Amino acid sequence: MNYTIAALPGDGIGPEIMESGLTLLETIGKKFQHEFNVTVYPFGGAGIDETGDPIPPQTIKGCSEADAILLAAIGGPKWENAEKTPEDGLLQLRKTLGLFSNIRPIAVSDSIAHLSPLKTERVKGTDFIVVRELTGGLYFGQPKHWNDEEATDTLFYKKSEIDRIVRQAFDIAMTRSKKLTSVDKANVLASSKLWRKTVNEIATEYPEVTVDHLYVDAASMKIIQNPTAFDVIVTENMFGDILSDEASVITGSLGMLPSGSHAVSGPSLYEPIHGSAPDIAGKNIANPMSMILSVAMMLRQSFQLHEEADALEKAAAEVMDAGFLTADLGGTTTTTAFTEQVKAILEK
Ligand code: NAD
Ligand code: IPM
Ligand code: MN
Repeated sequence: MNYTIAALPGDGIGPEIMESGLTLLETIGKKFQHEFNVTVYPFGGAGIDETGDPIPPQTIKGCSEADAILLAAIGGPKWENAEKTPEDGLLQLRKTLGLFSNIRPIAVSDSIAHLSPLKTERVKGTDFIVVRELTGGLYFGQPKHWNDEEATDTLFYKKSEIDRIVRQAFDIAMTRSKKLTSVDKANVLASSKLWRKTVNEIATEYPEVTVDHLYVDAASMKIIQNPTAFDVIVTENMFGDILSDEASVITGSLGMLPSGSHAVSGPSLYEPIHGSAPDIAGKNIANPMSMILSVAMMLRQSFQLHEEADALEKAAAEVMDAGFLTADLGGTTTTTAFTEQVKAILEK
């Protein structure tokens, strides 16, 4: 089969981990006889440097026409005062493609549980998914402006926006252990009151799913205290952003977590949950697992290539189990050396 992929390496460690992801995608293509037609587009700070725009028209067109999009990471101090920042470009891409549903899996296999700074017995068996609403809430609500005297952000949700992400979370819960945790701040926020009411209404259509509600402050504590108690977590845009970075600590590193973002129709986008990590960029020490697992998510969710995704994930896990770890996990393996190890296993 033939697949068209738009690749957006972006900034900082972005190009380094994209290289890893694309190398292994090519290896998978050869092994399983698929043709992955990858086109690289300027995006983020790299887009600004190349064209003056973090999301130039050719990038939007290439992404819209692709079968799937792979993004590494964008942003950095160089562009933080740009009129249109790399982050603005990322939000525009998500909004333009209607990528309202961001799936962030957090799983810890027994063999890597000891890498977490949390107690091994506490993190063993962790396997949950954060379903993050991605095109609404504080990120997009109007009015939004600031000057030296005052600033405004608006947390706005239409019921239909809550409805579609919550249904997606229930559908995912039905394929797993039928347990859904909705995270909000309904004791304070109006948007959260509508969120909770909507969750409870939809719950009547999914009688098999056990639903509970947590306030976001308590949820942030419980995720760390007892991560194995969670299965599917659904929450609004900013809470999902924060809780998923927090959850990465359970795995040992932010460099471990992939994500997939989906629209009602059109291509999905796969990206690590982390950013461009300017503090370690250019050193060949970034953990490429987040990107490798994002490639695996793409193979599975956009192309239904389950065997291929399993092979990639298994090879990467094998490399970690053999003790090849990047610096974030206490090792000395470089990004390229890690990638070569995974490639060698796939080619065996
Ligand atoms: P960050 O996620 O880039 O980094 C946070 C910490 O995690 C850093 O210490 C970094 O070295 C480490 N880290 C992240 N990914 C890693 C990896 N793969 N391997 C090893 N260590 C890793 O967050 P930040 O420093 O707050 O933000 C830097 C820039 O990235 C900002 O411009 C921000 O806006 C942007 N950002 C972009 C995205 C994205 O592209 N989707 C996501 C988050 C942040
Ligand atoms: C992420 C990032 C983005 C977000 C930023 C860079 C706009 O933190 O993908 O998690 O907040 O969504
Ligand atoms: Mn984030």
